[in-house]
Amino acid sequence: MPPSLLDTRVPAVLLRIDRNPFHHGTLGAVRSLGRTGVDVHVVADSTGSPVRTSRFVRELHPPPPPGATHADIAATLLRVAARVERPAVLIPMDDAGAIAVSRLRDELAPVYLLPQQPGAVPERVADKAELVALCAAADVPHPLTVIPDSAAQAASDAWRLGLPVVAKWSRPWLVPAGSGLRSTALVRSPQEAHELYLRTDEAGSRLLLQAFLPPGQDRDWFFHGYTDRSGSLRAGGPGRKLCAWPRGAGLTAVGEWTENPAVCAHAERLVDTLGYRGILDLDFRRCGATGEYHLLDFNPRPGAQFRLFTDSAGVDVVRAQHLDLTHRPLPAGEPRPGRTFVVENYAPLASLRPTRRGRELAWHAGDDTAPGRAMWGLWAAHVARRLLHRLRKLGAAATAEAEPRVVRQSPPPPSSLTRLRTQTGSAGQSGRTAPAVAGPTDDEKASSC
Ligand SMILES: Nc1ncnc2c1ncn2[C@@H]1O[C@H](COP(=O)(O)OP(=O)(O)OP(=O)(O)O)[C@@H](O)[C@H]1O
Ligand SMILES: [Mg+2]
Repeated sequence: MPPSLLDTRVPAVLLRIDRNPFHHGTLGAVRSLGRTGVDVHVVADSTGSPVRTSRFVRELHPPPPPGATHADIAATLLRVAARVERPAVLIPMDDAGAIAVSRLRDELAPVYLLPQQPGAVPERVADKAELVALCAAADVPHPLTVIPDSAAQAASDAWRLGLPVVAKWSRPWLVPAGSGLRSTALVRSPQEAHELYLRTDEAGSRLLLQAFLPPGQDRDWFFHGYTDRSGSLRAGGPGRKLCAWPRGAGLTAVGEWTENPAVCAHAERLVDTLGYRGILDLDFRRCGATGEYHLLDFNPRPGAQFRLFTDSAGVDVVRAQHLDLTHRPLPAGEPRPGRTFVVENYAPLASLRPTRRGRELAWHAGDDTAPGRAMWGLWAAHVARRLLHRLRKLGAAATAEAEPRVVRQSPPPPSSLTRLRTQTGSAGQSGRTAPAVAGPTDDEKASSC
């Protein structure tokens, strides 16, 4: 994309509240905007993160403190704005940031360019209980979900839905770090549902129980897009998860841009129903029995693999937002189905295989090699730590406490049995995990993209 297409007088500020050193989506946004000549400021905990080494970062800024209130986040962003000295396009890279920015819109609007997002829409879509009603209103399939109002009812609901069931906290961004609670867990018995319900106060939001949709080939789909000032969906597209990490229930380790009219139609209906504006990332799972695409998750911000959807004019969702908010026309690009995106540390072999239809790697880039090198160094150290941790836990396994096993969480416990495939099948599974650790490791954070 020729640099002149973007208004390079307008900087970009990327906000990441969640502390995740391996968040490749932030690096993708840094490079996407930085390559066009836009000054990119990163507000995140970049200690030990490959992102800090990118030559496209103009300046790193300290993030809001852990457990920050919206007032803390406002103070941080206003401080950054004073340093940037010009109105900037602000792009939150995680749910907590997106929710805070939408709540703080009036305070931030004088110094940041923001989409005209109505009211508390990001909070509504990220709240998994609200998502149930939203899907019903937009006529988009969603797994059968119940909200029990007592521990006894949680146990009977789990039984009624058919075990295993998926348990989710409706507002996962409120789950305290270090509590051992996971945003999403697989519950295999009424007793587990009962016990989980009793931790509602600690989790900070309601417990939902949801029918489990089994994983399988070509069942996991996602949709990324940017809704412009007129309400039209621009940039992005539908894609398929070819490989997930952890397998069967995790982030996209290998994704492919794949046309899917049903997924696009669902996205359009959701956007229209809500009057949504800005960047969105939707996750769907196809039901093996009915073939319907169920919406599992609505993330009101760029998904970590958003660079997959870079069209023939070089437009992706973050460039689309910058162009639109600076009142520049979006160049007319063509979709590039067949293009793939590979996260090298989770799918190293896929990153080596030859490809004919275009591939982008999450970390390595020919014009910005330092983050790729830094990632491998940090990853090797992290894997070594993890192995050591596992060895230590093997010794402690006999005394480990039983607790519901994880489908996916942000972040999961280091030794949790996070793979749906292992959880649903093998008779050898004991159902026991080791006690939760005090805080998430880098690897655990890495799974929260
Ligand atoms: N009803 C379900 N049946 C089967 N698997 C599910 C179901 N709901 C969620 N999952 C699995 O758990 C993963 C995480 O669930 P979900 O997206 O709701 O959590 P999240 O915390 O919002 O995740 P993220 O951090 O990716 O935004 C999904 O990608 C999917 O693999
Ligand atoms: Mg989510």
